[in-house]
Amino acid sequence: MLADQSQVETGQIRTDFVTYQNRTGLRIAACLDHVGGEMRARPWVLMAPKFGETKKTTLHLAYHLVANGVNVLRFDPTNHVGESEGRMLDFVLPGVVDDIIAGLDYLENHFGVSQVTGVANSLSARCMLRVAVGDPRIKKLICVAGVVNLAATMHEIYKEDIFGKFQTGYRWGITDFLGFDINTDIFLDTVIRSGLHDLLGTMEDAGKLKVPFVFFYAARDVWVNKHEVEQVVATNPRGQLVPVIAAMHEVRENPQAARQVFEQVVWTCLRDDPYPGERAANLGIPDKKLIMAQNRRERDRMRSSEVPSESETQFWSNYLKKYSILEKSVDYRAYLDLVGRLCGGLRSGALVLDAGCGNGLFGLWVLREVWQRHALVPADEPLIYVGLDLTQRGLADALGNHLGWRQKLQEIARARAVPPPGLQYFLIDFDQLEEKPRLAARLPFQEGTFDVICCSLVLSYLKRPQGLLRELYRVLRPGGALVVSSMKPNCDLSIIYRDSIAANVTPEDVEAGRNLLRAAGKIKLKEEIGYYTFYTQAELAELVMDMGFNVLESHLSLGEQAVVIKAAK
Ligand SMILES: C[S@@+](CC[C@H](N)C(=O)[O-])C[C@H]1O[C@@H](n2cnc3c(N)ncnc32)[C@H](O)[C@@H]1O
Repeated sequence: MLADQSQVETGQIRTDFVTYQNRTGLRIAACLDHVGGEMRARPWVLMAPKFGETKKTTLHLAYHLVANGVNVLRFDPTNHVGESEGRMLDFVLPGVVDDIIAGLDYLENHFGVSQVTGVANSLSARCMLRVAVGDPRIKKLICVAGVVNLAATMHEIYKEDIFGKFQTGYRWGITDFLGFDINTDIFLDTVIRSGLHDLLGTMEDAGKLKVPFVFFYAARDVWVNKHEVEQVVATNPRGQLVPVIAAMHEVRENPQAARQVFEQVVWTCLRDDPYPGERAANLGIPDKKLIMAQNRRERDRMRSSEVPSESETQFWSNYLKKYSILEKSVDYRAYLDLVGRLCGGLRSGALVLDAGCGNGLFGLWVLREVWQRHALVPADEPLIYVGLDLTQRGLADALGNHLGWRQKLQEIARARAVPPPGLQYFLIDFDQLEEKPRLAARLPFQEGTFDVICCSLVLSYLKRPQGLLRELYRVLRPGGALVVSSMKPNCDLSIIYRDSIAANVTPEDVEAGRNLLRAAGKIKLKEEIGYYTFYTQAELAELVMDMGFNVLESHLSLGEQAVVIKAAK
């Protein structure tokens, strides 16, 4: 059935929160997006989110579909993050398959729907493909950056043949899978038994499909191999491969690529032809404000069902344990160079504040820089570096990292009869700082103390970033430089992760890399439910300007995943 776009009043899009049970009796929480009216007469789409994400991440695409006359049901899988019942510990892929079928049952029982287009992302796409093989209610399948060989994807991530080891008797018990504790042995056992783990199983399923399927392949996807996707699509003349240039596994990371995929998914859902091609004509666009309002509603609901189990101090202490792995990534080193360059010349006697220093990687950069320079031109006055952080762990590691370089500098300084750089560290919780000045909530420094302030990848994690910015403004000297940064919304760390552990992979590197990915998974979820906020270039600039700074420069760095801004007082 073709959608009648002319009947859609995009301002009328609304979302009903609905629940239903899967066959094991667990309650599934879902969102039904539509424009009301004669719902039964419109086409239907069922959407499943990526592993570790909630139905909220599919809201944008869903509203684009609804704006074009399609009804959408998007759900949180059970035993997963989100609002559905069950423990993440019990997450298994056949469970997602069951939950997709439960969605089809719900649509059939409540609306008499017998024809649905299935749209899924990443790992869920593998489950949607399985359902499409056996359930005639799926009339078309759309996979976005779908995983086709879970064993290979996990090998890419863990640098270990997890499935092979499992099959020879190795057992993991409860371990972390991309940021979430799951019962890995049960996960692996069920995925192997159901043939959802390898390329052969995916090719077999794809070969059996009696409905058209379109596979959007992200050209910069490091988790999915293009050649394998081609093999899957080649099994069946109903298959169509659509490459998305410049897209990563997290397609939304690149707004242009995301827009291209949105348009083509909508177009493909609207038309009866298997794949109507790239020319998407006159598509309806949903009202941005409507999406933002719905996003807030869902974020607020989610926050009550996803309460973090550890304090911020515990979280960051664990995170920082292995954070130094980032230094091995070319992109991270380029990022530090940019931050350092924007901080300006570290002149003799400069006072440098590193707000939220973590294990002091920026401090390390500063000391190296000073060492390189001072080997040529001796400074008359010592540079003073001050690191602030929430965690003892970060500060202790920062000190450990810095002492070696300080010693080198001490030797130069002794030879030239000048004092070595000073190092100071303070344990402090920036969330205690308030936007309105009060003596009790201040940084322990006088007005105009610092020449340079670096606040790298910190503001996003604060409840009131304005409180810290207000204090940074106070303690920066007039004319001094502030460099702040944030991960950008929908960032994708996969390439940085891969590059961090690409060269000389030691078990320590791999373990450190995994920890980084785990933390990234948790951070992403916290951002999704509104504990953290990632900023675009415009948003970060506005935040900084609101607190009185002049924004001088704005960049994308860290493999284009972070926003960096230079401001002055
Ligand atoms: C992503 S790390 C960045 C570390 C470092 N600036 C860098 O770029 O390598 C975030 C840092 O912010 C710190 N942090 C988070 N919340 C904080 C708070 N409320 N007060 C002080 N520091 C905080 C964490 O402890 C952690 O070291």
